[in-house]
Amino acid sequence: MANDPLAAITDPHAHRVLHRLHAQADRESLSLALRFLDVAPRVLLGRALPWERLEGRLADRFICLDRTQGAFCYLLARALGARRIVEFGTSFGVSTIYLALAVRDNGGGSVVGTEMVPAKAARAREHLGEAGLAGLVEIREGDARETLRELDGPVDLFLNDGFPRAALDVLQLVAPRLRDGAVIVTDNVGLFPADYAGYLAWLRDPANGFLSAPLKMNEGTELSVRTRASAPPADGA
Ligand SMILES: C[S@@+](CC[C@H](N)C(=O)[O-])C[C@H]1O[C@@H](n2cnc3c(N)ncnc32)[C@H](O)[C@@H]1O
Repeated sequence: MANDPLAAITDPHAHRVLHRLHAQADRESLSLALRFLDVAPRVLLGRALPWERLEGRLADRFICLDRTQGAFCYLLARALGARRIVEFGTSFGVSTIYLALAVRDNGGGSVVGTEMVPAKAARAREHLGEAGLAGLVEIREGDARETLRELDGPVDLFLNDGFPRAALDVLQLVAPRLRDGAVIVTDNVGLFPADYAGYLAWLRDPANGFLSAPLKMNEGTELSVRTRASAPPADGA
């Protein structure tokens, strides 16, 4: 396909798995949209959504970054020389494949993924195994607000792609572990502007140590750079 973002993925195993998984996600996109039909007017108007009701509807859904976002994350991680990456929201592991591949191609390291639905974490492990990347990834099952409390740094890249209700809490857990110049990619900020308003206000306030702007990728993707790493906690943890 001309201008295929997957052209950046030259590893044949990862390429084959990503090609198949994106095609599967494409096929499921209509049924995904149908599950949101009742809230479509609120989405179109940019209003806040009742995530406490919606999250359960997404528990078995194949949702993932699109190909452009995936290739962007891969290339960004390569440019950063990323060796340690954290991801909020692993789902079926599509984004995790891009991230783990970049870490491997940078010479090795690790990706910490997080997923609250055990069946999704199991599927993600299968897909990472097929892509030959399982050894680079630890998927922490459960609520990321708990599972990321213990986290080694320095972290080079953080993909924030969970649901919006926990986005700021998780960011604030990860932020002290980000090195200067580390990058955060946040999906869905343009699709759910009201739900991400508080998150973006925090991230775009230079007092919190980031420079941040929205990119026109997918429905709107925030790119943020750590400009001032926080001092480590007094106990050195
Ligand atoms: C948009 S999907 C992630 C897609 C994935 N990054 C990809 O591109 O392949 C969001 C995922 O975050 C998970 N999630 C949402 N809130 C969570 C939480 N508090 N802790 C852990 N996982 C969570 C959901 O179960 C869902 O699978």
